[in-house]
Amino acid sequence: MNLILLGPPGAGKGTQSAVLAEKYGLPHISTGDILRESVKAGQGLGLKAKEYMDKGALVPDEVVMGIAADRLKQPDTKKGFILDGFPRTIAQGENLDKELNKMGRGIDLVLYFATSTDVAIERLTGRRVCKSCGFNYHIKNIPPKKDGICDKCGGPLIHRVDDNEATVRNRLKVYEDQTKPLIDYYTKQGTLKKVSGDMGVDELFKVLSKLFKEAKLA
Ligand code: AP5
Repeated sequence: MNLILLGPPGAGKGTQSAVLAEKYGLPHISTGDILRESVKAGQGLGLKAKEYMDKGALVPDEVVMGIAADRLKQPDTKKGFILDGFPRTIAQGENLDKELNKMGRGIDLVLYFATSTDVAIERLTGRRVCKSCGFNYHIKNIPPKKDGICDKCGGPLIHRVDDNEATVRNRLKVYEDQTKPLIDYYTKQGTLKKVSGDMGVDELFKVLSKLFKEAKLA
């Protein structure tokens, strides 16, 4: 099953990807996570990417397209993959099609998480992320058992630099201008399914599982 999760920041793409990856044994490929790893490592690419990420802008297409193409060549993607936050521009979508085509593969389903602005802002400003394992929490919706500590690994929970309200609003504008055109792109390809990203995590997972059955993917 080759999936793309598309939607605004805060739609729940990362949260749902983690659940789906565990349930279906697929690799969860998040360009945001890969870029944050490079930033942490302080390499050339990371230093360049940080400037864009901190202000909520998109990292240039050629950088991200290279990262995604390399990752999709890894052997664990043979059984399928979940792309979270990629593609994010029409150029990235076209490049992805070209790369997959070379491998004799394609996208089965694009899950579009339609999410209201208020929900996205509330989720992101309240998000806390484990510094060690990357697991996502929310101070109200999905709180950890112990304040500031990850349930899974005991690591410290942090507030992402780009999760302050002003930067979140900029990320939402960037999404409207540069990423939303992909909805039309995949609608024309006949692969897009729209679901409500405003639903709770378990409810949304049930809706997605039903979609996979209907599409005979699971
Ligand atoms: P990235 O890390 O991909 O951020 P994003 O797309 O802005 O998405 P988020 O992680 O903010 O939201 P999400 O939809 O995954 O929500 P989540 O599940 O975490 O990208 C960061 C930056 O990297 C970009 O700004 C850009 O600079 C760069 N970048 C990355 N990819 C790029 C690309 N392809 N091209 C160019 N640049 C790129 O949930 C959010 C919160 O809500 C959490 O607290 C969670 O616990 C909670 N929550 C989740 N689901 C629910 C639910 N159903 N109900 C209640 N609460 C929920």
